Amino acid sequence: MKIPAARWYQALKERSSRRQFYSKIIEKPKIKQLNDLIEKINNDFDDLRIILVQKNVEEIFTGVLGSYGKISGAPAYLAFVGREDTPYMEEKIGYGGEAVILEATALELGTCWVSGTFKAEAVLADLDLKETEKLYAISPLGYPEENPTISERILKTVISSKKRMDLDKLIINKKDLEEEPEWVKTALKTAHLAPSAVNRQPWRFKLGENSITIQLDTEEKNEERSKNLDCGIAMLHLEVGSLKAGVSGSWKYLEGKEVARFAVE
Ligand SMILES: Cc1cc2nc3c(=O)[nH]c(=O)nc-3n(C[C@H](O)[C@H](O)[C@H](O)COP(=O)(O)O)c2cc1C
Repeated sequence: MKIPAARWYQALKERSSRRQFYSKIIEKPKIKQLNDLIEKINNDFDDLRIILVQKNVEEIFTGVLGSYGKISGAPAYLAFVGREDTPYMEEKIGYGGEAVILEATALELGTCWVSGTFKAEAVLADLDLKETEKLYAISPLGYPEENPTISERILKTVISSKKRMDLDKLIINKKDLEEEPEWVKTALKTAHLAPSAVNRQPWRFKLGENSITIQLDTEEKNEERSKNLDCGIAMLHLEVGSLKAGVSGSWKYLEGKEVARFAVE
C-alpha cells in the first residue's frame, strides 16, 4: 500500500470520532475512491478483508451511555474482517483499517472505530463471512453533523477522548524528545494522535538507533478488545509521520509485549 503522506498527515490531525450523521448519500466518486483503496489493502494483506456496506446503520449500533453514545444517521459503514488464525491479524486490521479511515477523513467523511457498541448479529447478516473469519470492528461512514452535537460533546467529555497522555511518559527509554531527529519527533507526535478503544492509549515507544519499537503498556493483552489492534492503528500513524518528515522505513513484527519495530531503510 502506498501511503499518501501529506494527505493522511493532514487527515489524522483533523480526524476525531464522529457519532451523529446526516443521512445524505455518499457520492459515487468518493465510494469508488474508498473501494479502490480497500481493494489494494485487501490484496496487500493476506486474509484481511475490509468491506464497505452501503446501508443505513440505524439497526446496527447500540448506545454507550443510555441514548447518548448511540451512533446514528450514517448511510454506510465499514466492516473490518480478518482470518483469526493469521499471525498479527489484529495489527493488520488496525493498520489497514486506519488507512481507510484516514482516506475517508480526507474525503470529508466522518468515521468512528467501533468494536464494542454494535450488534454483531446485525452486521454479520449483511456479510458473507467464512468460518475462519472474524469481524473485528466496524465504523459508520457518512457526513457528520457539522459541529459535534450536545450528546457527542457529553460523550467526548465522559471518555476524555480529546486527551492523550503526556508523550514523554509514553517513551520508555528516553526523556528529551527535543534532542531526537526530526523524523522521530514527527513520527511520535503523529502516533500519539492515534485513536484507541476507550482512549486507553496502550502503546509505548522505545527509541533505538534509527528505529522506533511499539510495545504494549502491560503484559496483559485483553483478548476481548485487542490492544494489538490499537497498536496497528498507531503503527500507521507513526509511519505517516515519518514519511511526512521525509524518512521511509519498514516494519518487523515482534513477539510478546513488543508489537513491531519501525526501522529506517
Ligand atoms: C479499536 C477501537 C474500538 C473502539 N470502540 C468503540 C465503541 O465500541 N464505541 C464507541 O462509541 N467508540 C469506540 N471507539 C472510539 C474511541 O472511544 C475513540 O477513538 C477515543 O476515545 C479517542 O477519541 P477520538 O477518536 O475522537 O480521537 C473505539 C476506538 C478504537 C480505536
